[in-house]
Amino acid sequence: MEKQIFRIAIDGPAGAGKSTIARMAAERLGFIYVDTGAMYRAIALFCLRRGISPKDEEAVSSAVKEAQITITHVDKEQRVLLNGEDVSGQIRTEQVGNTASAVSAYPEVRAHLLNLQRDLAANASVIMDGRDIGTCVLPDAETKIFLTASPSVRAMRRFKELKEKGIMCNLQEIEQDIIERDQRDTSRAAAPLKQAEDAVLVDGSDMTIEQVVSIIMDTAISHGLKVKQSV
Ligand code: DC
Repeated sequence: MEKQIFRIAIDGPAGAGKSTIARMAAERLGFIYVDTGAMYRAIALFCLRRGISPKDEEAVSSAVKEAQITITHVDKEQRVLLNGEDVSGQIRTEQVGNTASAVSAYPEVRAHLLNLQRDLAANASVIMDGRDIGTCVLPDAETKIFLTASPSVRAMRRFKELKEKGIMCNLQEIEQDIIERDQRDTSRAAAPLKQAEDAVLVDGSDMTIEQVVSIIMDTAISHGLKVKQSV
């Protein structure tokens, strides 16, 4: 019997919980989880290390050609390699996130990552999260979800996360940062953050992770995903 390939695209603003939810749904479905934000973060790290200003489009666009990004999975966890070096831990800072938001606006940077993202979904069932998956990377994805939450809820979640890691932070600054990042991600010309016309909008502000995961699974099943019943 032919293997069913099914793709779930999850887009939405920073801090909406996309990665936690996508990872959990992928685990349950036995799908590969692809975090595309990590690829933009790796490019951002490359620029930061080279002292290239994220505002300098020409320098970023030229440098990106030397940044080879590879994705591997270790125990089902995605690892991002930058020119062969595993940078999965180093890309998780606020500075790298904000730089990623800036450099991801450049068409050369997006073009550099597009094929890699499509290749990962070519022969396997995936849940891929990002900003333009449903609109640009996988426009034919069987299920598209646009996951959002209010800026104050997203800021509070991020605040708690950082505090748990022992990182000093200020809630108002985090919220301001989130609002600025949303503004940059939605207003850029190249593949902006936008809900695809055929995406299901989920506002997770007042939902638990479990509730959001259930909505995603139910939506995928209603779109033809066949799940094995556990006995
Ligand atoms: O999801 P994240 O915070 O790891 O993403 C970091 C930045 O990368 C985000 O602010 C915008 C950019 N990004 C993008 O432009 N397109 C994607 N598909 C994923 C992320």
